Amino acid sequence: MGYKKVWFVTGASKGLGLSLVNQLLKAGQYVAATSRNINELTSAVNSNSEKFLPITVDLSSEQSVEQAINATITQFGRIDVIINNAGYGIGGSIEELTEKETRNNFDVNVFGTLNVIRKAIPHLRAQKSGHIINISSIAGINGATGWAIYSATKAAVIAFSEVLAEDVKAFGIKVTVVAPGAFRTNFLTPESLILPENPIGDYEEVREAHARYIKMDGAQVGDPEKAAAAMISLVSMPNPPIHLLLGNDALTRATGKLAALTTEIQTWKAITISTDLDG
Ligand SMILES: NC(=O)c1ccc[n+]([C@@H]2O[C@H](COP(=O)([O-])OP(=O)(O)OC[C@H]3O[C@@H](n4cnc5c(N)ncnc54)[C@H](OP(=O)(O)O)[C@@H]3O)[C@@H](O)[C@H]2O)c1
Repeated sequence: MGYKKVWFVTGASKGLGLSLVNQLLKAGQYVAATSRNINELTSAVNSNSEKFLPITVDLSSEQSVEQAINATITQFGRIDVIINNAGYGIGGSIEELTEKETRNNFDVNVFGTLNVIRKAIPHLRAQKSGHIINISSIAGINGATGWAIYSATKAAVIAFSEVLAEDVKAFGIKVTVVAPGAFRTNFLTPESLILPENPIGDYEEVREAHARYIKMDGAQVGDPEKAAAAMISLVSMPNPPIHLLLGNDALTRATGKLAALTTEIQTWKAITISTDLDG
């Protein structure tokens, strides 16, 4: 990578975030990285470089996010790339998950991402450049049994990223939303994944679906180092995509969803167009 940029990566103590930070530092980039736990972050990254700024952030607090963005500007003078990576999976049917469990997931996956975007954009807009990369999931395109709330959070990330890309284009700011399939990170481990505190016995298929996913832990086909490299490569492209799928499984699930959606739209077209005043 030629020109050195300032990167702001959330959720960096493990998984994709950690791979991103390590690769960026190795490439001589300036990196502000956030975590809930700065000790875990600094011991995971293990770098004394002046180009590395570890920051403790509570992503659900707009004030905490603002302080982190300001600390980055103070240290490095600017911000070029935002990678909204922090997030966690939550399994459970809608009925099983409490309002608190549900809101917590939205607070991190959706509102945390929005807080970062809201506080970073004024700087990107002033400098008339920047790239915002939001990590969604294939679950946001084609959700699976037992993951309704996680899918909803990731669908929200896709929806607002698409419109954000339009809204900030005039300021020279690029937006990409990344939808990974299954990657071998901590995502499916008990320390990352949340399951309902009050499961309901009737949801046998949901339990079976969760068991299948949890069994996949450590055997996911996706390589987080390759995912990080692919995301980093977007930033030097003159015309990066708005949507990027990562992984063969993501490709299969996305194309399957598009085909099913197209078929359903065509099947019910008569009722769809019958509701116009002149229909
Ligand atoms: N791995 C996959 O199969 C997969 C597939 C599709 C999408 N994704 C998405 O990729 C992103 C990275 O996940 P990963 O696979 O790297 O999983 P991971 O190894 O569990 O890492 C997740 C990161 O997100 C942060 N995080 C988790 N829960 C959080 C919370 N309650 N509040 C704030 N931050 C929290 C953590 O940051 P700190 O502990 O440093 O605070 C952690 O570093 C997530 O947005 C995830 O939804 C992953």
